[in-house]
Amino acid sequence: MRTQVCIIGGGPSGMLLGQLLQRNGIDNVVLERKTKDYVLSRIRAGVLEQGFVKLLETAGCAERLHAESFSHTGTYISYGEEIFRIDFVSQTGTPVVVYGQTEVTRDLYAARESSGATTEYNVEDVVIEGADGDTPSVRYSSNGQQRRIDCDFVAGCDGFHGVSRRAIPDNVRREYEKVYPFGWLGILSETPPVHEELIYANSDRGFALCSMRNENLSRYYIQCSLSDSPDDWSDQAFWDELRRRLPSDYADALQIGPSIEKSIAPLRSFVTEPMQWGRLFLCGDAAHIVPPTGAKGLNTAASDVHYLFHGLIEYYETGDRSGLDRYSETALRRIWKAERFSWWFSSLLHRYPDQTEFDRKMQIAELEFLRSNTAAQQAMAENYVGLPY
Ligand code: PHB
Repeated sequence: MRTQVCIIGGGPSGMLLGQLLQRNGIDNVVLERKTKDYVLSRIRAGVLEQGFVKLLETAGCAERLHAESFSHTGTYISYGEEIFRIDFVSQTGTPVVVYGQTEVTRDLYAARESSGATTEYNVEDVVIEGADGDTPSVRYSSNGQQRRIDCDFVAGCDGFHGVSRRAIPDNVRREYEKVYPFGWLGILSETPPVHEELIYANSDRGFALCSMRNENLSRYYIQCSLSDSPDDWSDQAFWDELRRRLPSDYADALQIGPSIEKSIAPLRSFVTEPMQWGRLFLCGDAAHIVPPTGAKGLNTAASDVHYLFHGLIEYYETGDRSGLDRYSETALRRIWKAERFSWWFSSLLHRYPDQTEFDRKMQIAELEFLRSNTAAQQAMAENYVGLPY
């Protein structure tokens, strides 16, 4: 098989890139290790930056988002019984959009299916060859058969555990990592959200987050130990612990119900440099991970897709490769800023196992400064709604 761009990974970044290219007449194939049902069963974050929404519009995939999403003009932060709001619109002129990543992916799959573009599921043993030359190819097996795709470029959108990043030789690649000493236990429940906006809660007992998908679907998280398993936490134990971490007015207003999903995610900051090698370009989790505090995971993948898409368009329309050549440098500049914000927001809100009383005082002092200082609020809001790209 031959195509212009071979996209490895059918998560939101691969599917978004595929759809953008498809709409601009650039032929592409998406290879996905799992089934479509598996990809659509994963629950991920639900806050989109305006830049991401614009990309979805460009891809022609924003119709349902516009009909069903919620615009949030601010967010709440609590510590103990104290709570304050940061107003994104008065600070930056821009709201964020609440719409689940799973729904974004569903819309991208629907668009890809109706465009007739090729997507191969259940592929195994993917190997990228010749990325440092002019004629790259991707070998894989499907239903026990060996296949090969010859292409102009390879987009590695196959996540943190994918093969693409490791196709860049060890002596070229440098990785930066910070692992946090706790996880997030998350549940989804068919209950009305405790509040119309998100609440990020710092408490003596650890972090909690009240989020949502719609008027009757709530997403809540509590910081947990890395050794915990979801089975250790009954629904009742989860709700009791969440209540203890919220200011009492919100704890009292919380409506509880059975969980329809319960899972634990570890927290990690990770960046690989460079994000390209010859004709291979990494996008999203294949190149970088952020802790979920601040919901930058999908949004950082989107800025990568934006830069890569524009580089490819420029190349195919004018023959100019300079945008592609600068891809890693351009993408990383924004990624490191999102890494910093996610690391900062995580550090501000979580309880660290080795935290001293002094460290705790520093968190409270920083929260009180943020509460009372408009410059600090503006800096937070600019990062939260998404830095420009
Ligand atoms: C979510 O709704 O899943 C969510 C929202 C905000 C975050 C992280 C996760 O910072």
